[in-house]
Amino acid sequence: MTRRILFAIALFCVWHPSRAQEQYLVNPTTITAKVPSTLWGIFFEDINRSADGGLYAELVKNRGFDFDDPVEGWKTWSANPYRRVRDGIFMVINQSAVNNKDPKFMRVTLQKSDTVGLINEGFEGMGIKRGIPYTFSLRFKVVKPGTHVRVFLFNNSGGVIGRINDFSPKPYTSDWSEQTATFTPTDTARRGTMLVIFEGGGEMDVDGISLFPGDTWKRRPGGLRNDLAQKIYDLHPGFMRFPGGCVVEGKDIAHRYQWKNTIGPIYDRKTIQSIWADDVPERQTPDYYESYGLGFYEYFQLCEDIGASPMPILNCGLSCQFDAAEVVPVSELSPYVKDALDLIEFANGSIHSKWGAVRAKMGHPAPFHMKLLGVGNENWGPQYLQRLKIFSKGIKSKYPYMRLVCATGYSPNPQFHYMDSALRAMHVDIIDEHYYMSPDWFYHNSDKYDHYDRKGPKIFVGEYAAQSARIGSLENRNTLKCALSEAAFMTGIERNSDVVQMASYAPLMADISGWQWRPDLIWFDNTSSFGTPSYYVQQLFSVNKGKEVVPFTLQGNTIQGQDSIWASAVRDGNTLILKIVNANPIAKTRKVTIEGSHSSMKGTLTTLGDMDLQAENSIKNPTRVAPKEVNVSGEDGTLELTLPPYSFSVVKVSL
Ligand code: AHR
Repeated sequence: MTRRILFAIALFCVWHPSRAQEQYLVNPTTITAKVPSTLWGIFFEDINRSADGGLYAELVKNRGFDFDDPVEGWKTWSANPYRRVRDGIFMVINQSAVNNKDPKFMRVTLQKSDTVGLINEGFEGMGIKRGIPYTFSLRFKVVKPGTHVRVFLFNNSGGVIGRINDFSPKPYTSDWSEQTATFTPTDTARRGTMLVIFEGGGEMDVDGISLFPGDTWKRRPGGLRNDLAQKIYDLHPGFMRFPGGCVVEGKDIAHRYQWKNTIGPIYDRKTIQSIWADDVPERQTPDYYESYGLGFYEYFQLCEDIGASPMPILNCGLSCQFDAAEVVPVSELSPYVKDALDLIEFANGSIHSKWGAVRAKMGHPAPFHMKLLGVGNENWGPQYLQRLKIFSKGIKSKYPYMRLVCATGYSPNPQFHYMDSALRAMHVDIIDEHYYMSPDWFYHNSDKYDHYDRKGPKIFVGEYAAQSARIGSLENRNTLKCALSEAAFMTGIERNSDVVQMASYAPLMADISGWQWRPDLIWFDNTSSFGTPSYYVQQLFSVNKGKEVVPFTLQGNTIQGQDSIWASAVRDGNTLILKIVNANPIAKTRKVTIEGSHSSMKGTLTTLGDMDLQAENSIKNPTRVAPKEVNVSGEDGTLELTLPPYSFSVVKVSL
């Protein structure tokens, strides 16, 4: 045979694999794992302005004048352009010696017939929607009666789109009071502003100026931005990890997240500057503060609203190991452990317990049923293990049912292997793994969990996202290519959900102008939001979670990259659900035979894909890459599927 003929035969073999090779087999009666209800969840961190200026619907920045610069976000205004208003009229009072949680407020002292005001810029403007009622509220103390208040809302170009003319603070004197008024703007604005005018001859102290839309999630006063909470809800997450992330650790111990500072009346929650304000030198946001209006009570309530198991993460006496890496001496750790015990009581305790009573007073007498608790975020090293042991002992002796999530650092590096072995030797409940890796890494590691010890600790893939450039790079994009590689990896998680019990993409949200980290799952500006291709991958897995994993094979092997296709299968009662990634630039046709079935079948094929692997969604084109559904049918127990180029498909058929 000539070389040319041999080459032709070889080419034929590459381009024309036999029908047997293309034939996929599902065995619907062999259950290899039960899918935990918690498998697909979310990780909410206040990063990229996800809380203040994002999910938390407050439109006023620095509403309590408690930023380090107390007038950050505010400008003074006077009806008389020659009147100097800063001196004498507006004066910031700092009472930190007597009230460290709510240290600052504004004293407004008017001379007869003064007309002055404060303009708030919002979070790069205020997103205002026409026709929706807005609630303005003022927290104040009248020192000398005689101040009249008016409120104006302006659109992007300074036109008045809403006003309150008759807001006369009642002359309460003894303590701080709150008074509200509702009004409906006549127009929409993405970069609106608000002017609060004080006029007359009185004197009053102002400790809070707030503006909320009336269409918050579940219409909760002072609640969450509707479109963003809805996007979270639409993921149907099985759990929610909160509040971070690096914010848990803080850049130093003083800036760590302290849950007790985030509950109770909103003006008693101690505002601090976010770790993300200056952590990324190229994306500084010095005005990024955490008001904790979205605090632990609200996180638990959100979990309940979206049907997710709450998974708070607490600081364990270590500040962020990328920053100051401060360590609290072991001898001084007991207040930290006590915080954990008190948190469990706050979430689950009876209303007669100290912290259960606090929860009840905030409006939720019933427990929040918390069973998962993270000890430290992305910590590593012997210093972490030493503190983890103290936490575990303290928590498990009082609450043996609590399942603890234990850290392994930030990446599958040598440190990870040291941590993994140590945690396994300690027989911990759950090991938290983080993967910010390339799309290739995700494809190549879809079999990672096939090799894990079935009897060891359970795995929580607590943070993962494919990086189109590299971890921490500002060049990262939310491309279809990244999303498909995550989907391929997730087929491996699903197949191994006896070991991997939870997984969450990270980070969850980002403001298109105020972000520090990308990629992210959901992006927003002041009035709109969109899900990335990765968002739809998460959603398709979550809403098609199924109950039991069944074998889905090609020639007896799991489908993991043969001809650039990755796949997994679950069933939910009589419904069979297949998940298939086609990473090829061309469509692929595959026959899927259901073992033991000779029936005809009807179902749906939902596909996420695009001819361009670099395709992304955006505010202007929010659904360029979004799922599309068609009907499929099969005969004699066999489906013939056409998998579009560069696609992730979910097939659902009744058995
Ligand atoms: O998700 C962004 C950051 O990545 C988290 O705050 C941290 O845990 C990780 O390093």
